[in-house]
Amino acid sequence: MNETAAAERIRFLTHEIRRHNELYFRKADPEISDFDYDLLKQELEKLERAYPELAREDSPTGQVGEDLSEGFQTYQHRLPMLSLDNTYSKDEFFAFVERVGKGLESESTEFVVEPKIDGVAVSVTYENGQIVRAVTRGNGSEGDDITANAVLIEELPKSFEESGAPEIVEVRGEIYMRNDEFDRINSERQTEGLEAFKNPRNLAAGTVKMLDRAEVAKRQLNIILYGIGFCQPDIVETQWGFHEKLREWRFPVGERFWKVNGAVQAWEAIEQLDAMRNDFPYPTDGAVVKVNGFREQAILGQTSKAPRWAIAYKFAAEQAETLLEDIVIQVGRTGVLTPVAQLKPTTLAGTTVSRATLHNAEEMERKDVRVGDTVIVEKAGEIIPAVLRVVKEKRPLESAPFVFPATCPECGSETRRLEGEVALRCINIECPAQVRGRLEHFASRQCMDIEGLGIAVVNQLVARTLVSNYADIYRLTFDNLIGLEKFAEKSANNLLEAIEKSKGNDFWRLLHGLGIPQVGAAAAKDLAKAYGSVARLRDAGVESLIEVEGIGEKTAEGIMAFFQNEANAAIVDDLFRLGMNPVAPEVPEGDDAIFDGMTFVITGTLATMKRSEAKALIESKGGKAAGSVSKKTDYLVAGESAGSKLSKAESLGIPVLSEEGLLALIDSRSGN
Ligand code: IVH
Repeated sequence: MNETAAAERIRFLTHEIRRHNELYFRKADPEISDFDYDLLKQELEKLERAYPELAREDSPTGQVGEDLSEGFQTYQHRLPMLSLDNTYSKDEFFAFVERVGKGLESESTEFVVEPKIDGVAVSVTYENGQIVRAVTRGNGSEGDDITANAVLIEELPKSFEESGAPEIVEVRGEIYMRNDEFDRINSERQTEGLEAFKNPRNLAAGTVKMLDRAEVAKRQLNIILYGIGFCQPDIVETQWGFHEKLREWRFPVGERFWKVNGAVQAWEAIEQLDAMRNDFPYPTDGAVVKVNGFREQAILGQTSKAPRWAIAYKFAAEQAETLLEDIVIQVGRTGVLTPVAQLKPTTLAGTTVSRATLHNAEEMERKDVRVGDTVIVEKAGEIIPAVLRVVKEKRPLESAPFVFPATCPECGSETRRLEGEVALRCINIECPAQVRGRLEHFASRQCMDIEGLGIAVVNQLVARTLVSNYADIYRLTFDNLIGLEKFAEKSANNLLEAIEKSKGNDFWRLLHGLGIPQVGAAAAKDLAKAYGSVARLRDAGVESLIEVEGIGEKTAEGIMAFFQNEANAAIVDDLFRLGMNPVAPEVPEGDDAIFDGMTFVITGTLATMKRSEAKALIESKGGKAAGSVSKKTDYLVAGESAGSKLSKAESLGIPVLSEEGLLALIDSRSGN
């Protein structure tokens, strides 16, 4: 490789690694595996060693990942946020209780047993009953100020009854994502052809650390409070008493707590909790057992990391052994072939499991999963049960390796692996499985929201060749529907009405529904805002599209390719001919649109405004406030203690404004 090629490659790798950092750390939405990410980094390191003169000072190889807290102010906890000692063993748990007894010189100690919530620890400070700050645990002594995101959590009280409210209290708890919300986001992602998030905890963690509040607002986070940090004046003397206070103040608290005496009762409570935890709306991975009295807690004290008065007893991930009866290949709307294990039904983490994902051909081969095998299935933080491994000793003698079909099991067409993907795809876009998948997606709640047009109806419509593309939906007649299973006059009319109503949906719903590669709900909303109509969007061109924050080159090319495809273009034209009339988002106009098409990034502490206020101001002028600096950024608005964003903006030559400068810019653009 010559020096020019090396320089070019270094530039590329640097850019790629930064992009992946952003996806992983800020968006909790990695595009590639950790392994592939490491490969990119290794390659860059190697090049930097070979061409030290080309190595950039701000190379991502010199940074330990990317600081999670970038973009957030750090804040010192008034009292440190400690961790907990963990155990999975009953013996160790009893030993803990014994140590406590010795420390307190008491025969039987009072404990509170509570669920351990698998989320993100947060400390919320209230002054005279008013919320002032929410901070992550960080390194224990200082964390990230995530107030702007935390206040979006509906359940989190922004204030509570002033009488009886202490002057200052740090209320500690756990931000989490409900399982059903996690499922909703994942199913949306899967219909978009994106990889699913791994578990609700990571997704919650990623979400609270997002810099774009608009994105945070699209995901529902919840919170449970369970602990007291600094408090002035003292208001309670026991953990139990604090739980009662929290209830009185109307904070969301855990489903169940137990006040117990001694190890045996505590263990009973742990077992009860284990039996009921699957019905809780949040992921619970254990029980936390705490000495009830604060005076006793103080006597026992703490190590540098964890209190001596509490322990987390962790439940092992649930596994079950069952028979793998068959392997079925499912074809999704994007043509992806997914192997699914059909299991002899077994109970796992409180639900009956009869199917588990086998991910893809490569994974199956690695685990050598065969029909007739006895397998271990696991459902831990992961919501989708997965086949963990095969019990080889129980494999029947006559078993044979699974042969992944060479053609699409649905339509017999050729399958192909797209560059950079592990998944095999059916290449026939008329494949009935893909058609069904696309129509179901189009009609789904996240898209056109056509009530009554679920998978069962779609299947019938496709089987009877009444519908084969989106436009056909709008050609359906009463006579077409009345013949369907379970359809009577009323249901047929209701569906026709729902179809009619969908014509006036918000534009982004239509865009999302069209199933353009990489265009999910978020991108659809951004595109709708930027272009307002299909006509403007399809004439946009790649150059213009990549100016839209969040739209990369690949997505832009995909969008153009979609509309340039004749069949797609014809369907879209048909849709409009049949009366599609989507509503464009309101964009500030005239005087108010002075920042139209401009992207700002806000960082640091501004002189008088909160960052959220500056953001709202920019948006009210038609501009966009983005989370990170890129060459698409028009201005960086920087306040005090601005960090890496400032240096990045400077290195890219992006103009930097103070709060005053921003106001002056508004004035000058408004012609004042
Ligand atoms: S008490 C000093 N109670 O688990 C006491 N923590 O693994 C520390 N957690 O850092 C916290 N549920 O983020 C406590 N009911 C509960 C909890 C809980 C979840 C988290 C917390 C802690 C971590 C330790």
